[in-house]
Amino acid sequence: MAWWCVYFVVALLWGPSWPLALSQLAPENEVPLRPTAWLPEGRVTPVRLPRGRTRRLYFTLKKASEGMAVTVSPCDQPVEWSLAARALKDKLHKTTHWSTKKSMPEVWWRGPGTETKLYSHTGTSMDTYTGPSYQPASIYILRLHSKQQDSEATVYLHQGLGLSGAFPVLPPDHRVHTLGVGMTSVTLHWSPSPSLDRLSPGQRGYEYCVLVNPTHNYPSLCSATKGLRRERAKEEKRKRREKERKRTPVTAAAADLECVCRGTESVCTVSELLPDSRYYFDVFLVDRLNGTSAAYAGTLGHTHEEAGPVATALREGELRWVTLRAAGGRRSSAGESFSFRPRGWQQSGLLTLQSCGGGQEVKVTVTTSRGQTLTSQALGEELSQIWLQGAPSYLIHLERGGGAENGLAPALPGGLRASVKMQTSSAYHRRGLPSLPPTLQIKSFSRLRGCHAVTLAWMGTEERSLYCVYRRRLPAGEGPPGGGRGGGESVAAAPCLGPESRSDTERVLCKYFQELNPRRAVTTATIGGLEPGTAYLFDVYLMRRWGIPVKYVSKTLRTRREC
Ligand SMILES: *[C@@H]1O[C@H](CO)[C@@H](O)[C@H](O)[C@H]1NC(C)=O
Repeated sequence: MAWWCVYFVVALLWGPSWPLALSQLAPENEVPLRPTAWLPEGRVTPVRLPRGRTRRLYFTLKKASEGMAVTVSPCDQPVEWSLAARALKDKLHKTTHWSTKKSMPEVWWRGPGTETKLYSHTGTSMDTYTGPSYQPASIYILRLHSKQQDSEATVYLHQGLGLSGAFPVLPPDHRVHTLGVGMTSVTLHWSPSPSLDRLSPGQRGYEYCVLVNPTHNYPSLCSATKGLRRERAKEEKRKRREKERKRTPVTAAAADLECVCRGTESVCTVSELLPDSRYYFDVFLVDRLNGTSAAYAGTLGHTHEEAGPVATALREGELRWVTLRAAGGRRSSAGESFSFRPRGWQQSGLLTLQSCGGGQEVKVTVTTSRGQTLTSQALGEELSQIWLQGAPSYLIHLERGGGAENGLAPALPGGLRASVKMQTSSAYHRRGLPSLPPTLQIKSFSRLRGCHAVTLAWMGTEERSLYCVYRRRLPAGEGPPGGGRGGGESVAAAPCLGPESRSDTERVLCKYFQELNPRRAVTTATIGGLEPGTAYLFDVYLMRRWGIPVKYVSKTLRTRREC
């Protein structure tokens, strides 16, 4: 190497005024040099990269250096970078006189040097060039370029063979793995970094930092810091706008990253996540002494849905009263689920339901075990019959509809508190829904009303069924006035109260009836043994071999006073 070259290098290493001098002399086709244009050795150097412009950093190697390692760590944008060595032509050496007024760098700069490309790379992740020193080189040029956006990168120069050790080293498999996923937690695992092995126990220069966010993975700690700070600023702004009048002081966003796990363990359980949500997980290995980091390849995970409502198994013929809680904010709290498995090879059955709550809407949804929805309907005070067919078992879900939100169902007479009455039966040899009477009104005949007996009439069905009549003496003062007209409609409108709620002493008769012509299906019963001039409440129930008994509309009648 020429004598002047050695002198030049020494001068570069010693003289802090060189870069400034150089910047004034930069030719037009080069970006003007700034003090940072000299890349120091062994120091993490941040470099701003204005969009579309090439930044150049220069360095020389000590004479004794056998090699170099140049590391470029982009922040969040892809960075194109290249390394070149520049040598001066020998000819120039001889013609240059250092004693002239021209300064040495200018001579060097303007000289007809040759440039040799050593390496180039484009990417968003950290990359290192290692290689031997380039012999005829006078100076090395590192060019950095961010095409799309203003960005930044950190650069590190190490003289000598091998890596500097200033950046943490990732293991060959540097992916983050998901070990387990729950409803609100995700457990992550990754291969430990060899950098940690080199440390004696007690040395705490490295730590992992695990970050979680709902939008995307970050390629570097720098981009994560930037991204999360931006998110936080947005959040602060939103809060500030909300609380503008309350004059709450807004604290500056904490610059510290909120690592969900921090330390040297290579496993981390992230908890307090939302169910059924997607999250992105990043693991960074941070060298706290040198202020550098390396990013593992992040992963994403989707937390499980909230556990569905537990279905209660219904037994054959079982009658159930279901009280539904008020619909709250959470999906599953607003309903109750039941399952029913009909007996017999037909796999069909009958579900009968009746809403008992005053004014609150109840919805029933029936799905088969094969996932097919049979029906989804609102329940009324009239009996609903749902035919179950096509699957070995059925899921019945009851929930309060969007109607009146008046808390619990009102307390019903008889001490029962329920909003839905429900029953399930297997259908052994039936083909469809049982028929219901065309009307549930009870008629009485004035001519057939005596002082000890009354005659009631009601519509039956074409199926042979049992009808039971119940009687209750009303206290004096209740019921229809006088003995004259004697007719009255229901007093207690409690459609869900079936015969099971009545005392046996109130039952006066039961009879079978069947009429194949539904229009003529009228049956009558004469109730005797009554006291004169007294009001009675009469109820008729259609007792079916399956399904909830059908209650007719209650009828109040007063016997004649004079016989
Ligand atoms: C910091 O950098 C030096 C080299 O510059 C390296 O030897 C060391 O291992 C690095 N990290 C720590 C935590 O010591």
